Amino acid sequence: MGDGGTSRASAFERERGEARKTAEGLAYLSGFGNEHSSEAVPGALPEGRNSPQRAPLGLYAEQLSGTAFTEPRAHNRRSWLYRIRPSAAHPAFTRAAGNGGLRTAPFADIAPDPNRLRWDPLPQPAPGTDFLDGLWTLGGNGDATQRTGMAVHLYHADASMERVFSDADGELLIVPERGGLLLHTEFGLLHVEPGHVALIPRGVRFRVELLEATARGYVCENYGSPFRLPDLGPIGANGLANARDFLAPVAAYEDAEGPVEVVNKFCGNLWTATYDHSPLDVVAWHGTHVPYAYDLRRFNVIGSISYDHPDPSIFTVLTSPSDTPGLAGVDFVVFAPRWLVGENTFRPPYFHRNVMSEYMGLIEGAYDAKTAGKGGFVPGGGSLHNMMSAHGPDRETFDRASAAELKPQKVDDGLAFMFETRWPVTLTPQAATAEHLQQRYDDVWQGLERHFRPLH
Ligand SMILES: [Fe+2]
Repeated sequence: MGDGGTSRASAFERERGEARKTAEGLAYLSGFGNEHSSEAVPGALPEGRNSPQRAPLGLYAEQLSGTAFTEPRAHNRRSWLYRIRPSAAHPAFTRAAGNGGLRTAPFADIAPDPNRLRWDPLPQPAPGTDFLDGLWTLGGNGDATQRTGMAVHLYHADASMERVFSDADGELLIVPERGGLLLHTEFGLLHVEPGHVALIPRGVRFRVELLEATARGYVCENYGSPFRLPDLGPIGANGLANARDFLAPVAAYEDAEGPVEVVNKFCGNLWTATYDHSPLDVVAWHGTHVPYAYDLRRFNVIGSISYDHPDPSIFTVLTSPSDTPGLAGVDFVVFAPRWLVGENTFRPPYFHRNVMSEYMGLIEGAYDAKTAGKGGFVPGGGSLHNMMSAHGPDRETFDRASAAELKPQKVDDGLAFMFETRWPVTLTPQAATAEHLQQRYDDVWQGLERHFRPLH
């Protein structure tokens, strides 16, 4: 590497150091679904009304509607933004040169596959890949233009975004598996590490700065109704993901004149425009349509203290309800560290055929139904058990768990999650033909021996 390369590398290091310092010093607002408010400059937020004749400090007032105006109050999402320029002040968008690895529902290029499938992690990104370039769609369902369904994406990146992105097609649940991220959003900054998730609402502009040399993870793009906390029923008023552990940013703005590329994902395509200022110029805001960060280790895991274990819906962090009560467009579910104490119980996840479709990913360690290690279910990899496909513990796990001494057991060597959706997941051609698609996943259920002994 020449001197130019060395100084570029050390400038990058310096930038990352600065970003980490910023990330670690951030303040937040606590509470999911709250009517939050924040101002980066005192007096920027109007008192007593949303749209005064002249907004304070010469700012422009603008509403961002995440739900229809008339949706029930409990589910309504909207925010008021007070910004240096209104979002309307931008030139025409033109189609980007391509959509990279991003694909959008309807997914109809290939036939939906009933097979159980598993992928190794994405390969290393090409040098200079930012978060947006690094998005790679595995598959999904529904139709983004009908605001139904979801997509499963993975990402890998080794560069921070210089541009700004927004997704009109859905909200983005970002699940980092490797490398911390500093998210610069219209609402302020969020810091997430592997083991945390970030939720970027539909239409909110943001860019992703890397805190390490590389970043890797998963994204659920939810075209349907915004994620909310699941109802708790007989569990009571507390438990699972507690609302107060969701952190919204405090207002922070960029007052930057000069060209900024803004990429807009709209009905499946990327469109781009060069603004003459940063659109992350919101000085104050209030509302309910806001980004969040959440530490999955804060999840309050509830399970059986007698026998059997509850269905994994008990691990739901966030749900996107559909028009049928109890039937989610997509649930986000975490398998966090927990104790297993069930008496006379097969303790790993049971054998299962599910009307819902399950995409599983692994953030760290191992998952208790699968043997870990190379060629297995590894961090950064993922498995798809589509509608009605038969799955469950592999042979080794079954044998071990069937013979294990049933003393209280802590499962704390991994952090796995699931995007579980009411519709089958159809793959993209790139996922169906990927080199990192494992060829012999079915083998994990081979050799499950016949034990049946009829009594005579
Ligand atoms: Fe399952």
